[in-house]
Amino acid sequence: MILMLLGAPGAGKGTQAVKLAEILKIPHISTGDIFRANIKNRTELGQLAASYINNGLLVPDEVTVAIVEDRLSQPDCVDGAILDGFPRTIPQAEKLDAFLESIGKKLDVVVNIVVDDQAVIERISQRRVCPNCKATYHLGHRPPKNGVNCDACGHEVVLRDDDTPEVIAKRLKEYHSSTEPLVDYYKEKGNLIESIGVDGIQESLDNTIRALIMRNA
Ligand code: AP5
Repeated sequence: MILMLLGAPGAGKGTQAVKLAEILKIPHISTGDIFRANIKNRTELGQLAASYINNGLLVPDEVTVAIVEDRLSQPDCVDGAILDGFPRTIPQAEKLDAFLESIGKKLDVVVNIVVDDQAVIERISQRRVCPNCKATYHLGHRPPKNGVNCDACGHEVVLRDDDTPEVIAKRLKEYHSSTEPLVDYYKEKGNLIESIGVDGIQESLDNTIRALIMRNA
């Protein structure tokens, strides 16, 4: 199954993708994570990506599409994958459809996680991430046990470079202008389901799973 998680920055795509990947036993592909790994390793791609990400802008379509096509061609994706944060523009969506068709697959389901802008701003400003193992925390309801270090690997958790108030505002603007039109794109294709990203990570996940089960019933 190829499943895609759509939603505003901070809607909870990454949080749900990790859990769904465990349940469905297929890989989680996050374009944001791929870019951040390249930034950390100071690759050429990382340099390019950082110039967009740190300004709240989307990385150009041709760069992003090539990365995802390459990732989806890896042997561990033979039974499917969870796409987190891709596609994010109509041209990316069209390229993905064409690529999947060329390898005899299709995008089976798109889960749109619906969260309003105010909740997004609260979630992102409270988020801390582990730069080492990528674990995600929320200082309010899901803090690291000692408040500072990652529970899994002990590294100090940090605010992401693009999680400052100025960059969050730009990311939200990009989301509404470039990504939100995908809701209608997938509604027309008939593969979109909505999950209300209510407060509470388990509750949100339960919503998604219920919606998935109802769709496949
Ligand atoms: P990316 O890393 O994908 O960032 P994003 O889409 O802005 O999403 P986030 O990672 O900020 O949030 P999330 O929805 O995963 O939420 P999370 O689960 O962490 O992309 C970064 C950048 O890379 C982009 O801005 C762009 O520049 C570039 N990029 C990436 N893909 C691209 C593409 N396809 N094309 C072009 N450019 C691209 O949760 C957030 C917080 O809320 C956490 O603290 C979590 O604990 C908490 N939380 C989660 N769920 C709940 C809940 N139900 N209740 C309460 N709290 C919750």
